[in-house]
Amino acid sequence: MEHILNILSVGNEVSIVPIGRIRVLQVFGDAYNRKVFYATTLEGSNLKYVFKTFPINNAGCKSSEEVAHDVEMAIRHYRNKLDDKESVPVVKEIGFSSITLEDGTTILIQYEPYAGETVTDPIVNYRAELVLTIVNEMLEQIIKPLFLNASIVSNPERLSTGMDFIPRNVTVITIDGHRFYTYVDYFPAKGGKLPCGAWALEYPEPTNEIVRKLGMFRSYNMAGILINFWTHLSSLRPELGGKFYKVIAYFIRRNNFNEKYDLEKVIDDYTLKKDLSIGKTSAEEIEKIIQNWDFEDIFRLRMLACCLAFYRNNSRYLLLVLFKKSHFQDSPLGLDKINEIKEIILKMASYQVDSDDK
Ligand SMILES: Nc1ncnc2c1ncn2[C@@H]1O[C@H](COP(=O)(O)OP(=O)(O)O)[C@@H](O)[C@H]1O
Ligand SMILES: [Mg+2]
Repeated sequence: MEHILNILSVGNEVSIVPIGRIRVLQVFGDAYNRKVFYATTLEGSNLKYVFKTFPINNAGCKSSEEVAHDVEMAIRHYRNKLDDKESVPVVKEIGFSSITLEDGTTILIQYEPYAGETVTDPIVNYRAELVLTIVNEMLEQIIKPLFLNASIVSNPERLSTGMDFIPRNVTVITIDGHRFYTYVDYFPAKGGKLPCGAWALEYPEPTNEIVRKLGMFRSYNMAGILINFWTHLSSLRPELGGKFYKVIAYFIRRNNFNEKYDLEKVIDDYTLKKDLSIGKTSAEEIEKIIQNWDFEDIFRLRMLACCLAFYRNNSRYLLLVLFKKSHFQDSPLGLDKINEIKEIILKMASYQVDSDDK
């Protein structure tokens, strides 16, 4: 049997039931031994789809086919919830297919319409004014409906549907001069509470308490979603950190998201000041501030690094290194990793502040 994951590169052809023969046009990513690619059908009307593959093994008493079925249901449920309940723009429909390989692994294949290029390139390359407009439009078209519709009455900052709102999970299509954004990442499906009562975060679900707490904050908490978004934006355009912060603050105010929960204040507390000026603090002060921070403070460490990069042009090359090192999914970062991150922060703080009046 041709192994779909091995033969995938641009120009290659493969058959996928029930779609038929397809030719790969573009490969998007190759993370964690899964592939995401764009392809055209070769029979009939040359339809184009994005394909996402998930290699799945058996788990406990379930076969790999049964687990694949569960994953498919979780993804469908999450996409439908974003669409019907939260009114968040998502791809129109998704289809699934699967094959089980000789080694027992089931490859689940999700296919969906192409929804445009991600906003990453425009954010990196466009002039500042247009970038800020795009960021504002992303907030208005995706986060506003999510916050309005998914907020839990008894606990307004907590959302009943989660999201990993970062630039590479959002695409844009321009029609008649208007930009339309789509949230495209449905796996791991953050569709809310699982039948066992836990909140869906990652696949497989993390068991570590701190990882779960941070995951809940990043994906299901209003402040956490905006902080995650701001740090990712800042990592792409550190010099716009201050302006991104303002665009987010105006978005919160304009839509009264401070009303039931002091959203702006919670975010400000993470930078320890009302603005980003913590980034101007001396290296000695920074050392004292971060001394007792550990893995639980990972988002504070990331925000601090963005603030430092905002004020210290020469330190910016270190931001992406820090982002890579601080990535976590289902297990906590060890003390050695946290110490490495702190070292990078202190190195960043050792560079001179460009100017005081940003
Ligand atoms: N429907 C889509 N239309 C256009 N591009 C897409 C679509 N879905 C995914 N992509 C591209 O593929 C990348 C990876 O897809 P994603 O679903 O976010 O998977 P993951 O982040 O888990 O690898 C995205 O960052 C984006 O570049
Ligand atoms: Mg993604």
